[in-house]
Amino acid sequence: MLKVTKAVFPVAGLGTRFLPATKASPKEMLPIVDKPLIQYAVEEAIAAGITEMIFVTGRSKRAIEDHFDKSYEIECELEARNKQKLLDVVRSIKPANVDCFYVRQAEALGLGHAVLCAEKLVGGAPFAVILADDLLYSHTPVMKQLVNTFNHYHSSVVGVESIAREDSASYGIVDGREWEEDVFKLSGIVEKPAPEVAPSNLGVVGRYVLMPTIFEHLRALKPGAGGELQLTDGLQSLLTEEQVLAYRYMGTRFDCGSKLGYLKATVEFALRHPEVKDEFEAYLQAHLPAALPAAA
Ligand code: G1P
Repeated sequence: MLKVTKAVFPVAGLGTRFLPATKASPKEMLPIVDKPLIQYAVEEAIAAGITEMIFVTGRSKRAIEDHFDKSYEIECELEARNKQKLLDVVRSIKPANVDCFYVRQAEALGLGHAVLCAEKLVGGAPFAVILADDLLYSHTPVMKQLVNTFNHYHSSVVGVESIAREDSASYGIVDGREWEEDVFKLSGIVEKPAPEVAPSNLGVVGRYVLMPTIFEHLRALKPGAGGELQLTDGLQSLLTEEQVLAYRYMGTRFDCGSKLGYLKATVEFALRHPEVKDEFEAYLQAHLPAALPAAA
């Protein structure tokens, strides 16, 4: 059976929505409590049995490489100070069985182009794509849910969720029929349609498991929505030749590409963080009523 062992992380985006924080450091390194977004994404991949992480990077993204590299300085310092717990935290960022690969996307031409940049590193095997901006919280990690679906049907799968129709223009939207509970057979997919023409209310989240045949379609891409080479358009082309599925995942999504989503994620993850949750909850309980405008 074709096993999914590789994940592609497109991380070349500029992150302009978080300027000035992202002027000199990557948006994927923004922390939710104490862990950068990209580490949550890699941990989700690891939980799905993936061991090869392929980062499609760009300029000013060196911090991501450093994050997954060994830091002799920090480790020596923590050892000397006998800080075993922190040492374990630092050493567990990249487990020994996990390998990281980096390829540059010289120009930000779109998500479809970013994934195409990983073609040589992916080779001829099915692979996952994870957009670190979409932070997903779930009992069973969402990429594992997608890989399970892939293993069952042996065709490309995109993660979707029900969205408000008025938000269609922020997502890839799928068209298809429900085949089994939460699994849809796609007849179409369109990038960021206006609500009036959106084919459904199922929006694509940043999780995909793709057959390597997608690359032929990505190579033939023409600029689409926003003038960019869109992964969605590659999928539309792929599904005319082979089966593509959508899977409605179980879990909660935080859109950490937006300030509001990022703040919500911070609060939710802080309320679950063993070190700070009790005090943070007490803080919210004590301060929130005062911070809210008085009821009329
Ligand atoms: C990308 C995809 C879009 C998808 C979204 C999920 O858009 O192009 O199809 O719905 O991620 O986050 P972006 O948000 O990067 O504009």
